[in-house]
Amino acid sequence: MTNFLSLADVSNIDALIQSGLDAKANPFADQHLGKNKTIGMIFFNSSLRTRMSTQKAAQNLGMNVMTMNVGQDSWGLEMEEGVLMNGDKAEHVREAAAVMGRYCNIIGIRAFAELKDRDKDYREQVMHQFAKYARVPIVNLESATRHPLQSLADCITIEEAKLKSSLIPARPKVVLTWLPHFKPLPQAVANSFSEWMNARDVEFVITHPEGYELAPEFVGNARVTHNQDEAFEGADFIYGKNWSSYAHYGQVLTQDSSWAVTMADLRLTNNGKFMHCLPVRRNLKVADEVLDSPQSLVIEQAANREWSAQAVLKEILITM
Ligand code: CP
Repeated sequence: MTNFLSLADVSNIDALIQSGLDAKANPFADQHLGKNKTIGMIFFNSSLRTRMSTQKAAQNLGMNVMTMNVGQDSWGLEMEEGVLMNGDKAEHVREAAAVMGRYCNIIGIRAFAELKDRDKDYREQVMHQFAKYARVPIVNLESATRHPLQSLADCITIEEAKLKSSLIPARPKVVLTWLPHFKPLPQAVANSFSEWMNARDVEFVITHPEGYELAPEFVGNARVTHNQDEAFEGADFIYGKNWSSYAHYGQVLTQDSSWAVTMADLRLTNNGKFMHCLPVRRNLKVADEVLDSPQSLVIEQAANREWSAQAVLKEILITM
């Protein structure tokens, strides 16, 4: 693996999931791989899980870690080519990425969608500019359209739950449900989860209010319904997430609280497990009773971020 920008960079998902499970069972087995290697983690946006889990994973592999918040710790970065830099961004990505590529063997980048210009966000300019100018492997720590480290952790969590419970079928029913929120959030987590579920042996259903259709390339072969109750019937996994509209780009079209997940909703499922990438606003998107129930996997899911990051970093390090 050279870059980890999306599922397209993964040659064998089953092997990558197993590598994550192996790392969980034996975290320090590959400490030699990262010796004298450095990962730089560049954040254009806030993070708790991605920042801590990726740092921990890199350290488990023996790597050195440097972290920077762009615009706070460093200069603001200009991404556009050929512009007159007379604004508030003091450094161009051409120099910044090239310099970071000299200090780091791998660079991880978090850069969310701005939700103003859909074409610009979906071009993934920040990831591609860093990949072009840094000349070292780039790891997506959540970009404008995808969050593949999260999706890999989600797959690890589903496989782990299947191993632990004989009640979950080999081909489980997995439902991605939109949740209400007053703020416009990116589609990245929902896009990515859909992309990865389309590549897994699951019955995959997406449910959301009208107007919240994801981009067709991410919906893939999923069944889409606007009836949340019908979607939940017999489900083994409920994956909750809010996202803003793709068609009416970046807009909040409804805040209908009936889409929040409660225990009454979970009772429609096959003792379904509840998943969410976190952070989650309690009782706005998901009821306390769900998050605090034995059916919630959210903490284990977040814990598995360490093992998804470790599997990906290992895959890159073995090519160096
Ligand atoms: N799920 C996730 O990526 O969490 P953070 O935004 O806290 O990193």
